[in-house]
Amino acid sequence: MTATAPTALAELEAFAAGASTPDPYPIYARLRAESPVVWSAPLQAWLVTGWAEVTRAFKDAATFGPLSSGAGSSAIYGRTILHMSGDEHRRKAAIVARRIRNRRELRGTLRERISALVSALGDELPAAPGVADIRAGLTTPLPLTVIAELTTMHEAVNFPQWYHDLAGASVSNVSRDPAVHARGVAAREEIDAWLDPAIARKRADPGDDLLSDLCTVEYEGQRLSDTEIKSNTAFFLAAGIETTDRALVNLLGGLVRHPEQWERLRAAPDLVPSAVAEVLRWKAPVQGSVRQALVDASLGGASIAAGEKLILLLGAANRDPAVFPDPDTFDVGRFADNADPQFTPVGPLRAFGGGEHTCSGSLLAKLEVELAMEHLLDRYRRLSFAGEPPVDAGFMLRSAPDLHLLLHP
Ligand code: HEM
Repeated sequence: MTATAPTALAELEAFAAGASTPDPYPIYARLRAESPVVWSAPLQAWLVTGWAEVTRAFKDAATFGPLSSGAGSSAIYGRTILHMSGDEHRRKAAIVARRIRNRRELRGTLRERISALVSALGDELPAAPGVADIRAGLTTPLPLTVIAELTTMHEAVNFPQWYHDLAGASVSNVSRDPAVHARGVAAREEIDAWLDPAIARKRADPGDDLLSDLCTVEYEGQRLSDTEIKSNTAFFLAAGIETTDRALVNLLGGLVRHPEQWERLRAAPDLVPSAVAEVLRWKAPVQGSVRQALVDASLGGASIAAGEKLILLLGAANRDPAVFPDPDTFDVGRFADNADPQFTPVGPLRAFGGGEHTCSGSLLAKLEVELAMEHLLDRYRRLSFAGEPPVDAGFMLRSAPDLHLLLHP
């Protein structure tokens, strides 16, 4: 080890503990160069910054598995499909995939519905040069409404704080802040109170929606318990909203900072799928996934004991120069020839994880972001920040907290 490694590690630990870190990528690069897998005593976890090591930890399911206890997502959601493996995972993940990865639906009904939503939200954006609170007006309500409709939790549209508190207390709470945890638990209680009667209704009179699917499906001859349905539904709320919201914020922020890339997209809108993949690489909204070693293991030269936790830093893996040339450059044409594979486990992009738990919602997120972008590219010649450029924040989930844009039709 050289003298720089402890400094990079200390900086990363301070960042994880909440220190303002406008640009964590140079820290990741230093840490990766020194040691792509390094133990952090304050975080009680191995920090994994190399693409090869992150990818193996996702794909080698016999050695590394989801964290099943303690702080992190399971403490807030209970047991979700993210915590399952093997046949149980395949069968239950398929229930969700049937709704959100069905290519016919994605080309048909879902596309039509999301286009209509984008148009309705777009109608509220300025028709003459003017300022828009783009997060409140577009990037949050779009994925929120999509998930609310898929689960028929229409009331959830009114409770954006729920998913925010859930996401904050699960994946983001690496420093185990008790106040943050308490907010997540309170959100779960409110969601459960809403879901109890909804589940009873769906069991008695199922409809054509994801919540009804969860209420009626059988696994090994038994229906899912109410607890399991509630855990998974709460997880979808956070997994499907906060992520897509932040992806759009990161893309718009990137395009304002790089007006030449906005011009490129306006001239060649067929680059939009590549631009979506590129922003997920350049500024991954989910920067970290958590795993634990199931057996004693060796990864990137580190010896990991069974039971130890790993934080897979997706934002770091996505900037590994061994896989992505010129990784710090935001280039909307980077995936011009291979955008689609980036939204499946096949492509090198690690924004959606990898292996058996690769994000089920990647194609849905892609569709939402693409349709929103096509709308904005069509309507506005130019975007600029209204006021000071926003600063990105967040260790596990990352984007600008707010985005106010001056839109020029
Ligand atoms: C740009 C937007 C999104 C990003 C960056 C993202 C990221 C991720 C990541 C990194 C994982 C893997 C977690 C792990 O293995 O530890 C994941 C899993 C998952 N995501 Fe997403 N996600 C996005 C959108 C969505 C949407 C729209 C949904 C829809 C509900 C969704 C549902 C899920 C589900 C159900 C899983 C668990 C899959 C499994 O365990 O089999 N995600 N997502």
